[in-house]
Amino acid sequence: MNLGVLASGRGSNLDALIAATGDGRLSSRIRVVLSDVADAPALEKARAAGIPAFAIDPGRPGARLARSATDAFVAALGEHEVDLVCLAGFMRIVGKRFVTAYPDRILNIHPSLLPSFRGLHPQRQALEAGVKVAGCTVHVVVPEVDAGPIVGQATVPVLENDTVDTLSARILVEEHRLYPEVVRSFEDGRVTLNAGRAHVAPPR
Ligand code: GRF
Repeated sequence: MNLGVLASGRGSNLDALIAATGDGRLSSRIRVVLSDVADAPALEKARAAGIPAFAIDPGRPGARLARSATDAFVAALGEHEVDLVCLAGFMRIVGKRFVTAYPDRILNIHPSLLPSFRGLHPQRQALEAGVKVAGCTVHVVVPEVDAGPIVGQATVPVLENDTVDTLSARILVEEHRLYPEVVRSFEDGRVTLNAGRAHVAPPR
């Protein structure tokens, strides 16, 4: 499969996907990395790995991409023959127009056990709620934010003295393991979507 990764920031999940394509856990190739932020460290990480990487102007402030920006992202993914899009710390809302261009073919990783703690600062939300278990979710992207069929989750304990930073770091370790594992299940054709739910067959 050809992967396209969209990232706005430091790109540690991108790194994890790059590592998995390098060591044989994934047979896909990352064909392009795109960002809405011109100086995103993720772009540098991609270029250092020899992957084409570009910023695309989001076209307007706020969470949503402008229509023209959506079209530019979709066009860039098409030019690189991407068939699975991985959002990895992409801080823009991918709306209906984007989703329609890649139906059931866009994944996102979110640092909470969805459907709990959607939106911004999920680790802080988890601490404030006093939950004892936290984690991360990879889900298929639908126009509603942090909704969409859940493909994989991983849990971590919440410790008594946790801060947002310590909890985030513990979750991040699991993110880096989970995202390549979920992409692998797509490579293998083990994911079936039905009535808003994802069914994942075990590895053969
Ligand atoms: C991760 O916690 C991811 O789950 C969230 O944003 C963060 C991105 O981190 N969506 P990185 O850029 O992959 O290091």
